[in-house]
Amino acid sequence: MTMKKKSKHGWYCKLCGQFKSNEKFSGKGRSQHICKDCQHQIYEENLTKKQVLKMEKAQTYEQLVPQIASLIKDVDNHVGALANVSALLHSSFLHYFWCGFYIVKGDVLELGPFQGEVACYTIKKGRGVCGKAWEDKQTVVVPNVLQFPGHIACSSKSRSEIVVPVFKDEDVIAVIDVDSKGYSAFDDIDKEWLEKIEKLISPLFDTKVAPLKEK
Ligand code: SME
Repeated sequence: MTMKKKSKHGWYCKLCGQFKSNEKFSGKGRSQHICKDCQHQIYEENLTKKQVLKMEKAQTYEQLVPQIASLIKDVDNHVGALANVSALLHSSFLHYFWCGFYIVKGDVLELGPFQGEVACYTIKKGRGVCGKAWEDKQTVVVPNVLQFPGHIACSSKSRSEIVVPVFKDEDVIAVIDVDSKGYSAFDDIDKEWLEKIEKLISPLFDTKVAPLKEK
């Protein structure tokens, strides 16, 4: 993760990814680009940097769930709603390089709304990470795509990937696909929260379903 200075008034914190003013950095944290809040968690609560990163990630996902719910509520333009969900996710995480949806159409997955670089249009069942998640009906986390047999490289910059199947009853009707430029970018936190998001958005893939209403 490259942390560059945004302006002379502040920095991006390497751990929480937030832009903070100069006063929010001090001592060792200033040279390491770790803000006081994250430093406090590391030193006072005796957490490792990796644990802090995980906490920040979980907190961001937790905040995103109600945002996604309100973003898609009462929207009958399901393509637009899915495009907005991918935009929200993509802009919320530094480790997201490509984020979007592939939708089951007959015996292939077809490219749906996404954020990121151009991507392939169709993926057969069992092919690549997406096709594997569809076939196995379960989330696939790939720490190094270069070592994944049959990985479909839409971008040569991708290094790790997570694919979460979207269900209607027992059937997979789509997949959520997220790529990162970093190795091992996705873990149990991403899996847990993307599977929660899957439940929220699955009605959007069924064009016969009326706009989502608040429960
Ligand atoms: N890498 C995926 C293909 C889709 S792109 O990442 C957008 C796969 O192996 O299924």
